[in-house]
This record gives sequence, structure tokens and C-alpha cells, in this order.
Amino acid sequence: MEIINRRPRMASLARKLRRENKIIGLVPTMGALHEGHLSLVKEAKQRCDVVIVSIFVNPAQFNEGKDFAKYPRDLTGDAALLTEYQVDYIFAPSTQEIYGEGFSTYVYVENLTETLEGASRPGHFRGVATVVTILFNTIRPDFAFFGQKDAQQVAVIKRLTQDLGFDTEIIVAPIVREESGLAMSSRNAHLSQEERYAAAIIYQGLRQAKIAMREGERNVTKLSALVREKIESEPLARIDYIAVVDNETLEPIDKIAENTVLIAVAVRFGKTRLIDNAIINRKSNN
Ligand code: PAF
Repeated sequence: MEIINRRPRMASLARKLRRENKIIGLVPTMGALHEGHLSLVKEAKQRCDVVIVSIFVNPAQFNEGKDFAKYPRDLTGDAALLTEYQVDYIFAPSTQEIYGEGFSTYVYVENLTETLEGASRPGHFRGVATVVTILFNTIRPDFAFFGQKDAQQVAVIKRLTQDLGFDTEIIVAPIVREESGLAMSSRNAHLSQEERYAAAIIYQGLRQAKIAMREGERNVTKLSALVREKIESEPLARIDYIAVVDNETLEPIDKIAENTVLIAVAVRFGKTRLIDNAIINRKSNN
């Protein structure tokens, strides 16, 4: 496995791989890898000849400088894990390498980025869309892998891939959960033991909606109320939002019909804000 820091080197290597007709898979990450990321790597290994994992803590997607500064960084640990998984390359550029002097071009995806996570993190998706565009342009992967846990990010990236004409197929891997049902996230590390235990209520809430759907409930207000009721039964949980939206457009829906429906939630436990979601009207639910 090779660690590449320079963008021109990454681009020329990717060009060479394409000339050799290799199928290139990209797993974009910000490092601090956990089981969720590794599931993306496993999926990439299955589909691609060459797997590149990018590790870049992207300043443009943080609203507050202190969150960016305290984001966990462990390139040595991450590299050791990725060696075990036989990843071919890590692309780990510096901030300067991505946002060089005079950088002033950003990618803004309209409509999908102001609600849900975008409402409490202004500019976040502009940062995500910009860095993903740069990564796609540099590597031009055949496949790129993202986790369903960040459902809004997935919707934004699918939109930009289509709108900007990238020849990259977006693969979305199911949410990886701890035994309790808590979705894997680098933020879980900030939870106290008590909060971590309590946070399993989120999945239980989402399951209420899935079960009710299976039993024939189609009223969105009722489904949403079931999730709320369950989560609110946990005294440590503070709900930020529960949204029932179209999985692609993220428009709120009031009636379950043909479109794929996403229930997305954000819940605080102490200082930590967790997100999770479930698709409730698909046969193979995650
Ligand atoms: O999901 C993440 O880790 C980041 O948002 C991504 C996609 C790597 C862009 O920085």
C-alpha cells in the first residue's frame, strides 16, 4: 500500500490505472476509521481492481474552527487498518494541496442542502460537495462508496454526480450498527458510557416506524409520532428533528405512495449530536 500526498501524483497514477483498464474504486473518508468505513472498503474490494481510500479532514465542511481542530486524526492507525484490508492506495493530501492559494471555486447543490443537517450546519454541504468534486476530478473513479448513515450527503453527492456529468457510479452501503443498534459514527467516541447506552433508543424509535409500516400504517404524522414517542421515552435524549422525506429530493412527504421514504433523525445526548435514518418502504431494509 502506498500513501500519496500530492494531487498531481494521485491524478497521474489514476490516469495510468485507467490506461491499464483497471476498475478504480474510491472510498472518501476523513479518517478515524471505524467499522462503517471498513464496510465501504470491503464493498470496494469486491467490485474494483484498485481501491483508493482518501483521508482528508476537510476544513470547508466544518462550521466551527474548533470542531475542525478537534476532529480525530490518526493516519498511522488508519494506514495500519487499511493495510490489513489490502487497500492499494491512501490519498492523504494536506489542506494546502486541496485548497491552494487563491482557492475560490465552490460547488453548491441547490434544494438539497438547506434542510435537515444543512439547517444546523450552514455551508456544510457546500464543503462536502466541493471536496468530493475535487476528489472525483483528481481520481475519476469508476465507483465511489458512501454510507447510508449520511443519507443527506448521499442525496447531495448523487445529485452532483449526475449534474456535473461524472462517470462515477455511487454505491451506498447500509448503516453498520453496534450490537445495541447504535449506528457506527466517529462521534460515538464523544458519548459517555451512559449516553452510549441511552443512544440505542434512536434505532428502537426507527424500528417502531418500520414495524408500523409493515403492519399497514401509511399516515406520515403517525409514523413520525411513533418514532418521537419512543425516543422521548429516554430521558437523556433531546430530539433535534424527525423528518419524513423523499429519499431522493429530501422533500417532506405527507403521504406514503410510490417514492422511497426516508425517516431521518438527529438527536442530542449531552454535547453529542447523533444522526440516523431508515428507509421505511423498501423490501430490503437496513
Ligand atoms: O462522510 C465523510 O466522511 C465526508 O463528508 C466526506 C464524504 C469524506 C467528504 O469530506
